[in-house]
Amino acid sequence: MSSKRIASLLIALTMLFAATVSIAEAPAGFEADATIGVSLPWLGTQNWMEANDMFKTQLEAAGFKAIVQAADQKVPQQQQQIESMIENGVKVIVVGPIDGTQLGVVLEQAKADGIYVIGYDRMIENTDAVDGVVQYGSIQTGVTQGEALLAGLAAQKGEGPYNIELFGGGPADPNAPNFFIGAMSVLQPKIDDGTLVVVSGQTEFSQCATLDWENNKAQARMDSLLSGFYSDIEIHGVLSPNDGIARAIITASEQAGQEIPVVSGLDAENETITWIWEGRQYSTVAKPTDILVAKTIEIIKSLQEGNGMPETETQIYNGLVDVNVYELPPVAVTRENIEEVFANDPSRMELLK
Ligand code: BGC
Repeated sequence: MSSKRIASLLIALTMLFAATVSIAEAPAGFEADATIGVSLPWLGTQNWMEANDMFKTQLEAAGFKAIVQAADQKVPQQQQQIESMIENGVKVIVVGPIDGTQLGVVLEQAKADGIYVIGYDRMIENTDAVDGVVQYGSIQTGVTQGEALLAGLAAQKGEGPYNIELFGGGPADPNAPNFFIGAMSVLQPKIDDGTLVVVSGQTEFSQCATLDWENNKAQARMDSLLSGFYSDIEIHGVLSPNDGIARAIITASEQAGQEIPVVSGLDAENETITWIWEGRQYSTVAKPTDILVAKTIEIIKSLQEGNGMPETETQIYNGLVDVNVYELPPVAVTRENIEEVFANDPSRMELLK
């Protein structure tokens, strides 16, 4: 064979190889009325109830069929629900995991079937069977909570030093340690310089976590902190990871005859909006569900059209791989800015009367 022929053969082979690779890598789109599965961890807080309704409505409005299920904090139930979504031929599975580390096997199966997997609100950990995660920045959420607690103490509890306690969310939820880490990045320097005193000495996440995010478990811990450490001193502030737990902390404090401490929160739940308006809870963090659901559906549309996952600058290591994260900013809410924050949310504005 002449060297010219060898050269052109090589070029042809290279082109064939490139074509094969690009065929293999081109994301496959799917039918515009495909079925999309959504698996939520539970319906125990307002944000998940909203997601449950909004995914149904918004997916259908976008032309898809929707299977939306919640798993009552039980990992095997969530695994089974995802398995049945796979059997039902869904093209995308959106998951808010109960436990970030327990879905690897079933999601690997989804991936092997060519199903896209999107984490919703929470990271999916220790697996490469995840195409991306849509969430409000979880460390930033904690930073916002810590800052609100400090600002509230200065505004409402005089000069300090301030007696405080710390609460975390459910330890299986990958958000919970991140919220705590974010908050402690703000609070730890103030503990170190003596401005804040954690009277119980309980400052590790493992000591402060609230199993399964159960409000009554937080209330029981708060009761025992108050009777054990605060029988003759005042508690000035409490870091709370969400609104349900904040209300449990406030209720326990009221029942113990304490003046209400400054308490942080998360989710801007309806009941909390009222409590903030009445001055009973100091702050919350808004992470609007409708926007997060809309963002998720925008990504699903991109997949449907064959454009793959949209570009994003944020990647977060999930214990095995770097995952593309589509991050939205959480918003601090106090009585001062509450009307401004919810100006376009008639149902929440209705509560400010
Ligand atoms: C969510 C919060 C919610 C909590 C308990 C977290 O992962 O980000 O919005 O309050 O779970 O349901």
